[in-house]
Amino acid sequence: VQREMSTLPRVYVTRQIPPEGLKILRESGQVQFELWDSDDAPVPRKELLQKVKGVDGLVCVLTEKIDAELLDAAGPNLKVLSTMSVGFDHLSLDELKKSLLIFKHLVTYSVAELTVALLLTTSRRLVEATHEAKTGGWGTWRTLWLCGYELANSTVGILGLGRIGVAIAERLAPFKVKKFIYTDIAPRPELASIINAEYVSFDELAKQSDFLTVCCALTPETKEICNKDLFSKMKNTSIFINTSRGGVVNQEDLYEALSTGQIAGAGLDVTVPEPLPTNHPLFTLKNCVILPHIASASYTTRNAMSALAANNLLLGLRGEPMIKELKL
Ligand code: DGY
Repeated sequence: VQREMSTLPRVYVTRQIPPEGLKILRESGQVQFELWDSDDAPVPRKELLQKVKGVDGLVCVLTEKIDAELLDAAGPNLKVLSTMSVGFDHLSLDELKKSLLIFKHLVTYSVAELTVALLLTTSRRLVEATHEAKTGGWGTWRTLWLCGYELANSTVGILGLGRIGVAIAERLAPFKVKKFIYTDIAPRPELASIINAEYVSFDELAKQSDFLTVCCALTPETKEICNKDLFSKMKNTSIFINTSRGGVVNQEDLYEALSTGQIAGAGLDVTVPEPLPTNHPLFTLKNCVILPHIASASYTTRNAMSALAANNLLLGLRGEPMIKELKL
């Protein structure tokens, strides 16, 4: 058995991923794998660089930078990289282009649900409201106290229309949104027709949106695309929501826009850095709701992501097409 084991492809898993994925790897009989057996902290870089030496496959999460240094440390055996994430900004794509297969994956439902929750939490000021109720701020019923903005008759703007943007719009539509608009590198008529969304310029998106939700990937083109130029064109009654990546936002500009009343509020599930230091200025603002990157954190989705990461790794190692492969 020992001898047989040692001929199997070697895989390193950089996190104690949810049980479904580990079970698939364990029961496959196709690989031998080692694991950073913790979910509380990422594997230290030094250890990671040691552990990947000579591996055939790697399963990672978004805390690992997969760059030239790591690929060099892994060496030429490495054929498949499977990331348990839909985001891929932790991967240096230019380096990967040389050889690797990687996949990206489905978090659509849980991200869309959380985005709706964050949007309503921000627009209806729920965090402020529970704080007031708990700490004695709740006096007599007052006519304009804790008023927010409603979705009914609003225009919702989507920055970067993909499956997640569509799923968000589908969930918001029953709130009687008046109009969905979106912008992207180019119109995406097939997706847009599902939600009856109109393609507009970036400027129009800023000007017209009562709620602007960011759904694009972080790439060199989208880095800090949400900056003072965008915020200054938004209405001062508008709500900004980001569940994609913190890097698409210039946080100083956002702070400025929120603290001067340029926009009404922001809900962020993602920041730079993560975790955001507790003394960060954004935490001082009542009109900014910050969540610790939990958009995909439902038991169903995280287990599905784990299973898919494992299955894709096995497919890739067998030389078969992977599910949701990222075409490089
Ligand atoms: C992703 O998949 O990229 C999310 O940010 C975490 O699930």
